[in-house]
Amino acid sequence: MLILRHLFLFVHLIGFAMLLGGFLVQYLTGKFQSNLVMRIGLPVAFVAGLILAIPFPSGYQLNYTKLAVKLVIALIIGALMGIGTKQNRTDRPFFGVIGLLILLNAGIAVFW
Ligand code: HEM
Repeated sequence: MLILRHLFLFVHLIGFAMLLGGFLVQYLTGKFQSNLVMRIGLPVAFVAGLILAIPFPSGYQLNYTKLAVKLVIALIIGALMGIGTKQNRTDRPFFGVIGLLILLNAGIAVFW
């Protein structure tokens, strides 16, 4: 079962890499809109994260306050990406907030 947990963590990290990598490509080339890689990376990280929130193997300890905060931030990231695409927003501050929230969630995962 631990190998399964590691497998989902691996998938979670690939989703995170796609989300942050996709964001950085856009931000550093001056295109302040989410791209396909971000739109795939977020649900991959999200679904794998939800699976990792199941306490397996038995006895595995999880910090549910931390996970709830991460869940809310991930939902806000998704909402902002959706609003940005729907309203065709191309301003740097709006897109930059998405990047900061991605980094915040990674920071919370590592430091909390
Ligand atoms: C944008 C969204 C997210 C990002 C950038 C992100 C980032 C990360 C990173 C970098 C790690 C590895 C850190 C470590 O293992 O110490 C991690 C682990 C983890 N994440 Fe996320 N995460 C996101 C969303 C979520 C969501 C929505 C959940 C579930 C509610 C979640 C649950 C977890 C769990 C449980 C682990 C630790 C796995 C373990 O120790 O067994 N994540 N996350």
